[in-house]
Amino acid sequence: MPPVPPLRLGVNVDHVATIRNARGIDKPDPVRAAKLAIEAGADGITAHLREDRRHIRDEDMARLRAEISKPLNFEMAVTDEMVAIALKTKPHAVCLVPERRQEVTTEGGLDVLGQHNRLVPVVARFTDAGVRVSLFIGADPAQIEAAARVGAPVIEIHVGAWCEAIAVGDRATADAEWQRIVKAAALAQAAGLEVHAGHGLDYETAEIISSLPEIAELNIGHFMIGEAVFVGLAQSVRDMRAAMERGRARARTAADQAKDHAQTK
Ligand code: PXP
Repeated sequence: MPPVPPLRLGVNVDHVATIRNARGIDKPDPVRAAKLAIEAGADGITAHLREDRRHIRDEDMARLRAEISKPLNFEMAVTDEMVAIALKTKPHAVCLVPERRQEVTTEGGLDVLGQHNRLVPVVARFTDAGVRVSLFIGADPAQIEAAARVGAPVIEIHVGAWCEAIAVGDRATADAEWQRIVKAAALAQAAGLEVHAGHGLDYETAEIISSLPEIAELNIGHFMIGEAVFVGLAQSVRDMRAAMERGRARARTAADQAKDHAQTK
């Protein structure tokens, strides 16, 4: 069993911009939120420049790139416009997601299999520019294998269906989705991909998923920005980190037990 790697927390600040835009003024500032999240222990910041600019705007992305001290993960659809903006912004990473104008949030994973020919040159352009590419996909073996074939070094598993099933108490669906996630994480690691997870995570689900040793990064937005209303953003980051650490401690214990078992054989 490989050693359990550290687990990073990426905080998505999109919904700080959602609140700002509801008033049409310049507050609250997503860049201020990003800096505060970093001070409180976030390892990076994620922001999604959507085609309709419903929350994060071009100038937010430029300011995040210029002003934050930790890696910026630029979430984007695979359109010529976004590829050009992201190449100009040169973030630490891009996360390629499917996008439909009418959706409330990113509803499903990217169809890497069906978009192979479109993705290969895009992944290559970012890689050549020194930008790490992550593909946001469902926990589907065919999509994971396709992600490795297009040359992406990272996948982010869409865990929204699992989180939703837990939230509504649908045990059967939650168990089935969890099994898919566990298998997907192992398959992806075996294919040489770094594995991230995101969408719909809260303290409970973040703790559980942190116990999977293959997961290297969680990207979390909606729940933490919502919690910030009650406890403050810094506290919600600290509470999330604590939940992740509880889960990771379980992964380390399991790895130690497996090692002891192998040694006594
Ligand atoms: N990761 C990706 C790729 C996403 O599209 C989103 C939603 O913007 C998230 C993570 C964060 O999801 P949530 O806001 O539900 O925590």
